[in-house]
Amino acid sequence: MNNPRIFSGRFPMTRLRRMRQFPWLRKLVSETKLSVDDLIWPLFIHEHEGSEPIASMPGVERLGIDGVVRAVGEARALGIPAVALFPVVDVSKKNEEADESFHENNLICRATRAIRKEHGDSIGVICDVALDPYTSHGHDGLVRNGQVVNDETVEVLVRQSLSLAAAGCHMVAPSDMMDGRVAAIRRALDNAGRQDVGIISYAAKYASAFYGPFRDAIGSVSALGATDKKTYQMDPANVCEALREVAMDLEEGADIVMVKPAGTSLDIIAEVRKTFLAPTFAYQVSGEYAMIRAASDAGWIDGPRAMLESLLAIKRAGADGILTYFAPEAARRLAEMRS
Ligand code: PBG
Repeated sequence: MNNPRIFSGRFPMTRLRRMRQFPWLRKLVSETKLSVDDLIWPLFIHEHEGSEPIASMPGVERLGIDGVVRAVGEARALGIPAVALFPVVDVSKKNEEADESFHENNLICRATRAIRKEHGDSIGVICDVALDPYTSHGHDGLVRNGQVVNDETVEVLVRQSLSLAAAGCHMVAPSDMMDGRVAAIRRALDNAGRQDVGIISYAAKYASAFYGPFRDAIGSVSALGATDKKTYQMDPANVCEALREVAMDLEEGADIVMVKPAGTSLDIIAEVRKTFLAPTFAYQVSGEYAMIRAASDAGWIDGPRAMLESLLAIKRAGADGILTYFAPEAARRLAEMRS
């Protein structure tokens, strides 16, 4: 090796397999540790009581508010530090202007209050900020003359953020990819005296086929029809643009930046973490979950191992926190491996 700082050794004096002989030794030289402290559990909440399976995400359910409060209790017992909430809004409450998104008593606000009442500050409550669950057309923003408009959307996102903060969420997570929304949300929260509420920005979010099952879960897939989100979500071909997105969001006051999807963006996660030295999260999205789950259910891969390997790789790339539908299962496995 030419780099004098890296001593790679020479065979046969150096044998790298020597350090792989025993489990105890592999533990000692392991460079990355995945822990329950790294996990955030995304939860889907619907307006009804009881739970309902999601066909394209086996093992994941839409929960009623009672069920969500219970799930948060489960997360807490497992040591998962935070949950992220996503609404499944009844079609009757969706419209072109996404009015339901900022109502102070909407589903997510009610769920947030119920969770905080039961669990206080013992577990983090992160609320997604975007309009797609609330719009009749399924876009993350308002549509004018067939275009998703930026600045008018930001005004609605600000109102949504204020309602979520008033309901008691610890952090808001804008996932809409409008320009300038982090600064606008930060300013509005500060003006409302809510300096305590943090912002996790979905900074580098790619227009991805891997969101398919999520759109099925929240029911925005049929609304979107043949349209896509490529005028606001990023082209997966781009790296420099991702870094500019992250730079701008940090400058606008984001506390944590997120890269999404995770598995197809490991290079981006690594680059973001190294470049900005800011807390960096990654989202192992619905399609990533569905692929591993389906292959596992079919008996084609060892599901639990593939799950932990995929999460470890995201951690190794540099993610400080990982949103994953596997959170409770991974937490259980990790605890078993310790004992
Ligand atoms: C929408 C949003 C999406 C996800 C999180 N927030 C989907 C989309 O952009 O269409 C995807 C999460 C997943 O696939 O698990 N604002």
